Amino acid sequence: MGAMNPEPLVATAGSVLVTGGSSGIGAACIEALRSRGLRVFATARDPNDFAAIVRAGATPLAMDVADRASVEAGCAALLQALGSARLAAVVNNAGMASIGPWEDLPLSDLRRMLEVNVIGAVSVTQLLLPRLRRDRGRVVLLSSVAGRVAMPFLGAYACSKFALEAFGDSLRRELRRTGVKVVVVQPSAVRTPIWSRLDPGPPPAEAYRAGYLGFRDHVLKVERDGLPPMRVAEAVAAAVTLPRPPARMLVTRRNPLVYRLYASLPDSVIDFVLGRRDKNSSSVDKT
Ligand SMILES: NC(=O)c1ccc[n+]([C@@H]2O[C@H](COP(=O)([O-])OP(=O)(O)OC[C@H]3O[C@@H](n4cnc5c(N)ncnc54)[C@H](OP(=O)(O)O)[C@@H]3O)[C@@H](O)[C@H]2O)c1
Repeated sequence: MGAMNPEPLVATAGSVLVTGGSSGIGAACIEALRSRGLRVFATARDPNDFAAIVRAGATPLAMDVADRASVEAGCAALLQALGSARLAAVVNNAGMASIGPWEDLPLSDLRRMLEVNVIGAVSVTQLLLPRLRRDRGRVVLLSSVAGRVAMPFLGAYACSKFALEAFGDSLRRELRRTGVKVVVVQPSAVRTPIWSRLDPGPPPAEAYRAGYLGFRDHVLKVERDGLPPMRVAEAVAAAVTLPRPPARMLVTRRNPLVYRLYASLPDSVIDFVLGRRDKNSSSVDKT
């Protein structure tokens, strides 16, 4: 069907795989994609989350993106359920965050972050690429504004999102002649449980305390003030369905231009702006 069509195939028909469909942005994606007539498969690690995914109108699949055998089994189950039907997109949404100074970061935590946020997305995408090439589907990657600017105390997370950005850029360029489009979605803070799941760890050394506490307060406010997950899900749905999606979609409360300009400022200016979050020593003493 696609080969007969002189226009680029518009991805309004078919199925979409959303990783991490049990919570936050992934759960919102189910609704946004279904409302555009797409069939949705959504992954969860805990089978207890399957019922909510079914209630939301999607087909649940068990998958831990950090476990290659689990990714293989989940992708095989997806392809079997699809039969010859079209795979319109894979939305690599599953992810985690952590907070704390580099000095205290256990290397095992950094490895885990990269396994889930980067290698997980690569792993799922690799296995589905043959089918996406056949179906001229899409790869959507949930990055973050932390993939543009590396904030203090969010270093491991920023490393994972910068790596995801590089994956997205090189993949998009590799797939240029295949009809598969790659879209990186970059939300700013979103109101989801990812922030309440953070393990604050032991109090950091005195040298980091003012900066860390200021940043931690900022992160805690996010659950209250962040974007609604549906704002991001609508962008994901656009990434899947627009005939010519952009390579990157910023989803922020502010004018996206602010973030584009921000990243091009001299490092010393960005350091100064981010440093203004530091708590002064009197409020540190009270904490
Ligand atoms: N919230 C924000 O402010 C924000 C901003 C920018 C970008 N993002 C990105 O958006 C994505 C979704 O985050 P969210 O805010 O919606 O977080 P969330 O509510 O904590 O949801 C994270 C999802 O990822 C899944 N997940 C975590 N580890 C997994 C693993 N090893 N294998 C499979 N699934 C796994 C979780 O499933 P389980 O239920 O199995 O744990 C859950 O469904 C992430 O990539 C995040 O980095 C979030």
